[in-house]
Amino acid sequence: MKVLIVGSGGREHALAWRIKQSPNLTRLWVAGGNAGTAELAENLDIPSSDVDGLVAAARETAADLVIVGPEVPLALGLADRLTELGIPVFGPSQAAAQIEASKGFALELMREAGVPCPEFHIFTDQSSALDYLKSHHGPVVVKANGLAAGKGVLLCQDSKQGAAAVKECMSDRAFGEAGDTVVLEEFLSGPEVSVFAFCDGERLSPLVAACDYKRLEDGNRGPNTGGMGSFAQPDFWSDELAAEIEQRIMRPVLRAMAERGSPYKGVLYAGLMLTGAGPKVLEFNCRLGDPETQVVMPLLASDPLELMLACAQGTLDEVSVRWESKNYVGIVMVSGGYPGKYETGFEIAGLDEEGPDDTMVFHAGTALGAGGQSGVPLTAGGRVLTVVGGGDTLEIARERAYSRLEQITFIGARWRRDISSAANQTAAQATG
Ligand code: AMP
Ligand code: GLY
Repeated sequence: MKVLIVGSGGREHALAWRIKQSPNLTRLWVAGGNAGTAELAENLDIPSSDVDGLVAAARETAADLVIVGPEVPLALGLADRLTELGIPVFGPSQAAAQIEASKGFALELMREAGVPCPEFHIFTDQSSALDYLKSHHGPVVVKANGLAAGKGVLLCQDSKQGAAAVKECMSDRAFGEAGDTVVLEEFLSGPEVSVFAFCDGERLSPLVAACDYKRLEDGNRGPNTGGMGSFAQPDFWSDELAAEIEQRIMRPVLRAMAERGSPYKGVLYAGLMLTGAGPKVLEFNCRLGDPETQVVMPLLASDPLELMLACAQGTLDEVSVRWESKNYVGIVMVSGGYPGKYETGFEIAGLDEEGPDDTMVFHAGTALGAGGQSGVPLTAGGRVLTVVGGGDTLEIARERAYSRLEQITFIGARWRRDISSAANQTAAQATG
């Protein structure tokens, strides 16, 4: 199979790495890509938002399968365009991608399908939202309805903060049109987990779970980031919990999407909070998570191309999907200053060194330096690398990942030292 992956982060490098091991692969391209994917595939210089360019690339490469990493091209209708041309695509249609692109859509779908989620109210005008907050007491969560690159969620301790957050979205337009509609949500608490199901429109794979860390600093303090680390599998994950999430959340959503005439194909990612009253959905994403993919792809025991093609073609009943029972820990190395301003162009040393067993380094914001592929890669973004270690226990995986990380240096590099430490394996997301 000739395969085109869309995206340029650690998620896409991990996808490329796993797909490269498939006996079904004949040729691989990555639209976007980074210095890491350049070692495995041919990078094409096309941004993820350039749907026309991506469609043209799929035609020119005569791709047998296009795998879409990020949400933006899906929300822009890339899958629909490819499907019209008869090119199999792993990723949902524009209508199905609404599950991530519109929080209001997702919440109303859940309400209709009886899926457990926070209580919520949707507002399209500021004065009604502020009126509602006047009669509300205690913490509240304010969310921009649309895609805001992971930034449109404001956790507010009281309705005064809530009102400020509503104004930030609706009159200051801090998230552009994404915040013209806001959702006010019940403030939930509990451990968080990202759960992934590979779906073919009707059927779904066995679930796989991972936890990610969003705050910059140890102890879940500091600003939110695109992700500072991840691990799989969480110690609280069990067959019983997986069955409950499948029955109460994943299957009802698949059924509701099919009934609405937009069957869901691709990965359905549920961001869950495990509350005292059972798992509740904080958000759905229409794609794999980053940095979760970096610890989930190594767990995939089945052929990735057979799996993703079956999702695209609605034949998931014909493949068996298995997950390893191992554990992986991923630590993200970021540029100094991230998630604020940072410099790039620094040499990354130590990538060629032989690491401990069962370790991998996935690139995100990296670029080939002078000398191209034989030269030293340079930093080119905020999140630079995810260093992953595997083992029979999370402790072993964690030790290996940190040992590999110690071999790698670049100016300004920083990372968290507490990823998957025993103290926060069940509280990866507790806010600090
Ligand atoms: P989201 O992008 O919706 O996943 O939100 C980002 C983060 O905000 C989540 O990972 C949670 O830590 C937090 N969050 C979102 N919704 C809620 C909620 N209803 N109650 C408490 N925390 C939330
Ligand atoms: N890890 C969070 C996300 O991919 O949205």
